Amino acid sequence: MRVLILGADGYLGWPTYQYLLSKDHTVIGIDNYAKRRWELEFNAQPLWPMTSQGKTLQYCDLLNARRIYQVLEEFGPEVIIHYAEQPSAPMSMAGREYAVDTQINNVIGTLNLLFGMMKHCPNAHLIKLGSMGEYTHNIAFACKTWGIRATDLNQGIVYGVRTKDTSPLSFHYDAVFGTVLNRFVVQAANSIPLTVYGEGKQIRTFLNIEDTLQCVEIAMHNPPKAGEFVVRNQFTEKFSIVELARMVKHASPIPVLIQKIPNPRAEVEDHYYNPSNQSFLDLGLKPHLLADDILIHMITTVATTPEAIINYFDPYNPSVITPNVRWKE
Ligand SMILES: NC(=O)c1ccc[n+]([C@@H]2O[C@H](COP(=O)([O-])OP(=O)(O)OC[C@H]3O[C@@H](n4cnc5c(N)ncnc54)[C@H](O)[C@@H]3O)[C@@H](O)[C@H]2O)c1
Repeated sequence: MRVLILGADGYLGWPTYQYLLSKDHTVIGIDNYAKRRWELEFNAQPLWPMTSQGKTLQYCDLLNARRIYQVLEEFGPEVIIHYAEQPSAPMSMAGREYAVDTQINNVIGTLNLLFGMMKHCPNAHLIKLGSMGEYTHNIAFACKTWGIRATDLNQGIVYGVRTKDTSPLSFHYDAVFGTVLNRFVVQAANSIPLTVYGEGKQIRTFLNIEDTLQCVEIAMHNPPKAGEFVVRNQFTEKFSIVELARMVKHASPIPVLIQKIPNPRAEVEDHYYNPSNQSFLDLGLKPHLLADDILIHMITTVATTPEAIINYFDPYNPSVITPNVRWKE
């Protein structure tokens, strides 16, 4: 298939690009490298130096409508996998400018894409990644109005240090871009306490990065009909944050403690939560469930890969783990 990946330099986009190329699809990846600028602004960087390189990787900003129209017209994708967003909740809460920039980037970028699809590739299947519970109204509207076909993937929190056969990922452990289990793994590898926000009773859904690839591939092979907007929950397991910390502490070959710290977010910690991932299981998803061997592998990979600990620009910076964006300040 001709597949266009938006946000191909990111944590999920880069392994997706490499994986689909290895499956003999014709793949173009685009990115505006905004994440690398945001990393500088927050003094954060991936644990491993990440150099996404590919003959069909191109600079393109979704906010530049003319350029995205050109890519859609010239390439004529059959599938578009959309990861190109500002994904960090702490960054969007870091002040008015960041909140406004996030809205503009994420809402207008997708609108430009939808208008471009309507004009240049109305039969393409749009697969849009978002977080659990984040329903994409403009895409639903475009399906209803223009007959576009789209799958909206409501994804849980992804974890994973590496994927099979792919080069280093944009792996973050900091409080702004890092996701919780990836942060716990780096804390355990460095024997610094696992920081749980509040009591840690808040329940979240999770999936292995290998399962992100699997789900996206399943979605590609199960396109909706023209005009149809399909929503699928993309996760394999759910845990409370404190439960997750206990699993990491238990599995870690390096002794580590758990430390509860004031929750910087405004979130209910005790709540009802019962999402279903049946839709992907019915389509054949074979989950990689979180077990001690996976945790041990992640922790030892971080602890024993020399360039993750000391390299010429020393990416490990413990101070960036402390959250300093607070929702109510
Ligand atoms: N990583 C997770 O745990 C997770 C969980 C649930 C949902 N998601 C969603 O999946 C998507 C990808 O997440 P990720 O972790 O790979 O994030 P990421 O920040 O690593 O990757 C996003 C990429 O998109 C690029 N980008 C942003 N705006 C762009 C624009 N206007 N034009 C072109 N490129 C642009 C960035 O430069 C970056 O390389 C996001 O929508 C995120 O909310 C991620």
